[in-house]
Amino acid sequence: MAEEFLRIEKLVKTFGANQVVKSVDLAFNKGEFISLLGPSGCGKTTILRMIAGFERPTSGAIYVEGRDFTNLSPRRRNVGMVFQAYALFPNMSVFDNVAFGLKIAGKPKSEIAARVKEMLKLIHLENLADRYPYQMSGGQQQRVALARALAPSPRILLLDEPLSALDAKIRVSLREHIRQIQQQLGITTVFVTHDQEEALSISDRIVVMNAGKADQIGKPAEIYNRPATRFVASFVGTLNLIEARVVDPAANRVAIGDQAVTLREPLGDAKAGDTVSLALRPEAGSIAPDARGDTALTGEVVSSNFLGSVIRTRMNVGGSIISFDMFNSPGLVPPAAGDTVTLRFTAGDLLIIRD
Ligand SMILES: Nc1ncnc2c1ncn2[C@@H]1O[C@H](COP(=O)(O)OP(=O)(O)OP(=O)(O)O)[C@@H](O)[C@H]1O
Ligand SMILES: [Mg+2]
Repeated sequence: MAEEFLRIEKLVKTFGANQVVKSVDLAFNKGEFISLLGPSGCGKTTILRMIAGFERPTSGAIYVEGRDFTNLSPRRRNVGMVFQAYALFPNMSVFDNVAFGLKIAGKPKSEIAARVKEMLKLIHLENLADRYPYQMSGGQQQRVALARALAPSPRILLLDEPLSALDAKIRVSLREHIRQIQQQLGITTVFVTHDQEEALSISDRIVVMNAGKADQIGKPAEIYNRPATRFVASFVGTLNLIEARVVDPAANRVAIGDQAVTLREPLGDAKAGDTVSLALRPEAGSIAPDARGDTALTGEVVSSNFLGSVIRTRMNVGGSIISFDMFNSPGLVPPAAGDTVTLRFTAGDLLIIRD
């Protein structure tokens, strides 16, 4: 059993009349990399700031290794934080930026020098100790910000969208670097992002936030493959949400337009004629010329878009527009608007979305 490290209980934050964090419960294990994923304004930064101690909860509690941190001053928490905007001290060299927390803590000079050197090695910037922030790229500055946060050996590392100001290529390489450093140090990390690909690619677990609440907590593949709510289904990845009509609840049969399909998941207490929402990932199916049957849908192609590695086609199935992807290959002739195509999938690809 993994050791519980950080626990958040019934955490609430209200600004004026606006409740922005609505009774959030979370428990993180030691050494875990957790992402808080959600759209702008859903309360991610506010939760991070409460963990850091910069913001006081309206109610609820925060425990670290069983100790009540709720009202502890930020300094006594020993939490490292990296922000979205470059927050290095502009008038200090890289060395002095990284040394900052250690100086505050009154560490001896020799110890500071050794620790800063170690941190600069960790972020692969050993040679830039004398540079100033304005002499560095955004990616380099964020690596220094990471080193500065890690230098005092914090209990917890908090990262608030540290990559969002960087361009796409740097973002991908730096997120992998952050993950590698985090695993090397075994530090419990809470990473805030609104980028679902980022969260899916580097997290042990993801908390999907929706308007101040945690909608779902799970491993990346669980979140992606088994979205618990309509919100998670639509926020994480691209997904078709299809309205279907129950035909035969006992046999898990539903109809999309006039085409019946069988679901793997039981329909529960739905009755014939009820409407159910189904989710289907665009990558789930494949085109098959002869595949009419229980787990296939035929429709007319509305459009086909070349996206590089995949071709995304939209087809009309009895009024529902369903997108599906095909891997690109040099010889592939994509379906054209007006073509009739049949998409085959397996019964388990159609998920029932219940709220
Ligand atoms: N100090 C404050 N005073 C009043 N309202 C605030 C304050 N800080 C945050 N809010 C509000 O709380 C809500 C949540 O803000 P928060 O910064 O936590 O969102 P977020 O999920 O981090 O969003 P983003 O992805 O845009 O950074 C927003 O509606 C915001 O306007
Ligand atoms: Mg934020």
